[in-house]
Amino acid sequence: MAEDDKQNIIIAIDGFSSTGKSTIAKQLAKALNYIYVDTGAMYRAVTYYAIEQNIIGEGFFSSDALIAQLHHIHITFKFNEELGFAEVYLNNKNIEKAIRTLEVSRFVSPVATISEVRQKLVEEQQLMGKDRGIVMDGRDIGTVVFPDAEIKIFMIASAETRAKRRYKELLERGHHLSYDEVLENVTTRDRIDSSREDSPLVKAVDAIEIDNSEMTIDEQVHQILKLVNSKE
Ligand code: DC
Repeated sequence: MAEDDKQNIIIAIDGFSSTGKSTIAKQLAKALNYIYVDTGAMYRAVTYYAIEQNIIGEGFFSSDALIAQLHHIHITFKFNEELGFAEVYLNNKNIEKAIRTLEVSRFVSPVATISEVRQKLVEEQQLMGKDRGIVMDGRDIGTVVFPDAEIKIFMIASAETRAKRRYKELLERGHHLSYDEVLENVTTRDRIDSSREDSPLVKAVDAIEIDNSEMTIDEQVHQILKLVNSKE
């Protein structure tokens, strides 16, 4: 089939935290000339707002205050030519780097349990994918956001493998913390994300599971591109 005759599809990539979903999703979007949306960044943006407004912090979380202020939260993505992907903005402020701290990672899972937050973000995500031609990663993309996605991937890797990757990444960005703190964050998020009442992290029945503990990025991208070629 000629490139132009191909149908744009939706690729949903779900899985546990730090399984490398975004790295794979970005490369797929580039290869296919699709839009890439990091839905974790949207939940992180809401969390960043909640921290700034003193709505959440060590030992406190006023979910009612967050719900009341949701209409003040405007999340957008702007493509950064240099980086080759879209960065996230909160009320027109670039927060791409600010949302990758361990502080935001610690509070994001409780924030993501709030149904009103999920409802708002899911609606926005569905709008972004209305013309298809999109790669979206998160926790509920294949189950809730796009249950009709043509391709659904569920990424897994051991908690230790994921914590090691994340630890390395954070150190490279100049954050000072211990490996144990990162492992604790990864396993706590797994537990909250998988056990929450609204849209828990579960593998969609029609998702293909990829355990990438021992796989290179190229191998994963190739495996998914093969699936795409068989669908388009
Ligand atoms: O992908 P990430 O680690 O940046 O996501 C941060 C958190 O956001 C994750 O721990 C759970 C939540 N999340 C979610 O509940 N649903 C999504 N679709 C994406 C993320």
